Amino acid sequence: MAGRHKVTVVGAGNVGATAAHWIAAKELADVVLVDIVEGTPQGKALDLAQAAPIDGFDVKLIGANSYEETANSDVVIITAGLPRKPGMSRDDLLKTNSDIVGQVTDQVAKYSPNAFIIVVSNPLDAMTQVAFRRSGFPKNRVMGMAGVLDSARMRCFLAEALNVSVENVTAFVLGGHGDTMVPLPRYSTCAGIPVTELLDKATLDAIIDRTANGGAEIVGLLKTGSAFYAPSLGAVEMAEAILKDKKKILPCAVFLEGEYGISNLFVGVPVKLGKNGVEQIIEISLTNDERAALHKSAAAVQELVDILEI
Ligand code: LAC
Repeated sequence: MAGRHKVTVVGAGNVGATAAHWIAAKELADVVLVDIVEGTPQGKALDLAQAAPIDGFDVKLIGANSYEETANSDVVIITAGLPRKPGMSRDDLLKTNSDIVGQVTDQVAKYSPNAFIIVVSNPLDAMTQVAFRRSGFPKNRVMGMAGVLDSARMRCFLAEALNVSVENVTAFVLGGHGDTMVPLPRYSTCAGIPVTELLDKATLDAIIDRTANGGAEIVGLLKTGSAFYAPSLGAVEMAEAILKDKKKILPCAVFLEGEYGISNLFVGVPVKLGKNGVEQIIEISLTNDERAALHKSAAAVQELVDILEI
């Protein structure tokens, strides 16, 4: 019998701890939760382990402040990073988080040289590029979670507008994880019917706008933090697709080398995830307007990557 899978989650804040929760509840893998704050990953892992008898999940959960325990993980989800503080510029955050993600990646690559890395830290696309460059891993093993979250937000709003099950609704969002993301109503469906045939333009435009600002809407409500239930589950869906070799098509930030006319940059596009990680980048045909919007979004990512010189 093959042994259990092992997933390391770096960062025991809301996103990381909730990712550990979803992984455990799905009985997907043993989990190592890592954080630099002493006690936090250990305490949260112990609390989750004590929930196991109630729900009946048989996975091992441990917390750690260093990486020895993470050795030979199959998947590593990186959520570490700081939110913006008063007085901090976007560039300050970019540099701070790139240092954090870079240092984390060094440890991940040292202890789990064969792992798949899923980055959740913001600014998402640029941080995924940091992990890719620092790890030296091949491009099929490093990816960023944003499109799953952004398209889930769009699906949630579409299902609400249509008054149907969320299970009937699919949606595609391309581009970087920022206000230039590109929701594609043409490729979004309800039970196979394009939503463009079911909803008027004003309703769709409002949904597109709400999707693009989905993260900010939640920050505005929470005031002290950002979204974590849906972001963490987005990362876990990607991990599950890899660990179970599902060949699932999901929008993920991946390293493009000419696809969609974009090169040497992580941007969100539809990919197939299976046991080899990113097994295929799927190029769908875009209208001129959609292509221009994707390129504008890629240019916004490129600006950050240029500042970091990665
Ligand atoms: C969001 C942030 C966390 O979209 O990126 O909610």
